[in-house]
Amino acid sequence: MTSYNINIQPSGQQFQVEAGKIILDAALEQGISFPYGCRGGACGSCLGDIQAGKVTYPDGLPMALGEDDIAEGKALFCQAVAESDLTIHMAEIKSDTEIEIKTLPARVESLRKLSHDVMEMQLKLPASEHLAFFAGQYINFLLQGGRKRSFSLANAPIEDNYLSLHLRHIKGGYFTDHVFNAMHEKDLVRIEGPHGSFYLRTDEESKQRPLILMAGGTGFAPLKAMIEHMLSEGVDRPVYLYWGVRTQTDLYQNDLAEKWAFQYENIHYIPVLSDADDDTSWQGRTGFVHQAIADDFSDLSVFSVYMSGPPPMINAAKTAFMQQGLESEQLYSDSFDYSADALKAMAD
Ligand code: FES
Repeated sequence: MTSYNINIQPSGQQFQVEAGKIILDAALEQGISFPYGCRGGACGSCLGDIQAGKVTYPDGLPMALGEDDIAEGKALFCQAVAESDLTIHMAEIKSDTEIEIKTLPARVESLRKLSHDVMEMQLKLPASEHLAFFAGQYINFLLQGGRKRSFSLANAPIEDNYLSLHLRHIKGGYFTDHVFNAMHEKDLVRIEGPHGSFYLRTDEESKQRPLILMAGGTGFAPLKAMIEHMLSEGVDRPVYLYWGVRTQTDLYQNDLAEKWAFQYENIHYIPVLSDADDDTSWQGRTGFVHQAIADDFSDLSVFSVYMSGPPPMINAAKTAFMQQGLESEQLYSDSFDYSADALKAMAD
């Protein structure tokens, strides 16, 4: 199958697109953050310039692209396919502040229990809608009475009209009680997002750094999204994923993490149980997950660390990691789903 090379200016990033494939689709699948909105040729968000090469529009000239635009070398990448290698001018989305925050209806596509207290919820957006987001960001569920509940997206933005979340059951919690006891597939919900600055930095300096990803419980979700995003991009930065939970049953996607570590040389997976005293079948690490990291890496100065989990875990880890040389700007953390859901559950 013929494929073409697309060179993006001014960043110099490159990616490949097969003949006949929509350029935006290929870019998103390869982790390139093009701006876009409707993906239907109507909004103009994906407009860029062709500096060299040729594109065509298999579905006809898009609504938001006039003959004048074409004469000036403009193109709408959500509709265009390449006819040759291309050099294009396009400002890639670099920060969360550039992403459009949307309020959308969504349908519960599936509910699947991953463990005794964790539910995987898949949401499907209306066919005409898409949500651009960075791997690791979160959305809010908009509930009755103005309540909101925040959860990290557990999937990478590869298929952007479905969203995956890991919800931990907080007994007595207004929202998670409903999810575990009364919600059904095909139910409608309202969401708003994406939000948050917890996402993988991919600037040149960051890309040189090995990564430590530290999860506590369902803090695994945004880190899973980041790893899946890196895998889709073919990133080979060393990744050390530490997942701290109480008992083996809380490692609700252990097989998936083991599979990554088995398949990809650069991914290392270290599960850590904090409550393994009675578990004679457990041969792995025990204790606090941040302590396991501190024991394994006496010098953290070359790393970037992303951590997601309950606030006490995050706070203890911050102190310990800074003492071992981690630069403060290389530390990214996220603990909202615990604080928001658990604390508000008590207040509701
Ligand atoms: S995304 Fe709306 S025109 Fe391309």
